[in-house]
Parts: sequence; C-alpha cells; structure tokens
Amino acid sequence: MTIVPLGEHIGAEVRDVDAGSPHAEETFAELRRALYRHSVLVFHDQDISDEQQVAFTRGFGRLQMTIASDPYGGGGPINRIANVDEEGRLIPPRDKRSLYQAGNNLWHSDGSFKSVPLKASMLSAKVVPPRGGETEYASLRAAYATLPESRKVQLEGLVAEHSMAYSRSQIAPGLMTEAFLKATPPVRHMLVRTVPETGEKALYVGSYASHVIGWDIEKGRALLEELLEWSTQPQFVYRHRWKANDLVMWDNRTCLHRGRPWDNGVYKRIMHRTTLAGDGPTVP
Ligand SMILES: [Fe+2]
Repeated sequence: MTIVPLGEHIGAEVRDVDAGSPHAEETFAELRRALYRHSVLVFHDQDISDEQQVAFTRGFGRLQMTIASDPYGGGGPINRIANVDEEGRLIPPRDKRSLYQAGNNLWHSDGSFKSVPLKASMLSAKVVPPRGGETEYASLRAAYATLPESRKVQLEGLVAEHSMAYSRSQIAPGLMTEAFLKATPPVRHMLVRTVPETGEKALYVGSYASHVIGWDIEKGRALLEELLEWSTQPQFVYRHRWKANDLVMWDNRTCLHRGRPWDNGVYKRIMHRTTLAGDGPTVP
C-alpha cells in the first residue's frame, strides 16, 4: 500500500488497498499505525456492501454496535446518515429528522456523549450531492501541541461534562426522544487525553462538551468555546470533498469533524457509518 499525507497535521490517502477483500493482520497493523499517525485515512473507489464494511472495520479493532434507541442505528452495526427515508424519498429540511442530523454539522467527536467514547468511525459514501456536503476534520493533537505552555499547565487534570442534550440544544429544543435522552445521560471526560498507542496528547472538546466540572458554568463554557475555536483553525483542518464510493476512517480521539451544508431539499446524501468501540473511560 501507499500512504500519501494530505496535509501537514491531518489526513492521508491510502492507495492500493481493497476494503472489500480480506487482509492479513500485518496489513491491518500498518493501517492502524497510519490511522494513529494521520488521524484520518481516505480510501477512494471502494464500492462495498455493509457486510464488507463491517468486516473491514473489524480489522482495526472491536466493532461498536449502535444503541437500540438510536433512530438511525436500531442496535445494528451500521448507522445510516442520510437525508432520505426508508423508501428513498427526500426528508424535508425542516423535518425533525433533518434537524436531528444537523447535529452532525457541529464540530464533534463521535460518541463523546458516552462514558466510553467511540475510538474510531468509518463512513462509506453511497450517494453524494454535486456541491457541498463535505466533511471537515480538525486535529486535536496539533491543537494541543501548539498551545502555549501556560495553557497546557492550566488544562492539566481538568474534566468536562459532555451530553447529547447539550449538543442538540444548540440546534433546536425538543429534538431528542425521551427514550434517547434517558439512554444518554451526561458524562465526564478529561479535557486533555493521552493516546495510549502513541503517547501523544490531544485536546478533547466539541459540541457535546458543556462545561468544566468544579468551575462556574459560564467560565467553563467560555474556556471550551475558546479551545474549540483554537482547535478548528484552518491550518489544523482537512476538508474532504466526497465522491461516491469514498471510504473515510478517522480516529475520534485525535480529531473533531463536522459535516458541511448542501442543498438538502434537492440533493440526496447517503452515508453508512461503522464504528470502533473505545478502550475505556477517559477519566481515571
Ligand atoms: Fe460524527
């Protein structure tokens, strides 16, 4: 395989790997190293089935099932991220289902609303719009590494509360079903994480992060907003312009991502997501 970096801090294209075929453990070991090093891996021209996607994801680690009350996962391994219903009809942009998915357009790390967040995610692009609908990725490692030393000292040991409710409150109130909110109570995460495989530190912020434990709510929120702004500066960001059959995998521990808008009342966008389970809580 050939690995071609896509930017200084984040992203690499992987060539000559067929995601639909079985691979030796050495191949997956090399792919895992590339994932940890670049945070985002891009594979083009991967026309794969859900079963092939699940098998390829498993090569990277332990597969995470969606929770049963997830309206787009239903307890299975595939999360469908799409603006069409089961019959393939466009969902109107003002529909509650579209607003729920609008949460994907806020900078976030998948699963940070859970006490054991998702280690990695993989998206397979089935249908993409002709314009817009990109996904942007921001390096949380570069963001941490470039912080002033005094800031790093200040952040040491801080814990933030993350919740689904806080994330979706930024879109519209009353978006979440009672069952889903009950299944996703607020959780706590370290504000700075160390990635065990590399020993590198990364900021852990995003739209689910609501406030800092033990701090005044507004003061903590201001810090989180400042760190989010810092982390998503253009030099830390890779923007992926999707083509159908692109397969993109990312390490949720070391990058944030967000979807970009498109003309979703006109064009379909259908993505299938699989995820890797995290290794444990971030708070000791
Ligand atoms: Fe996401």
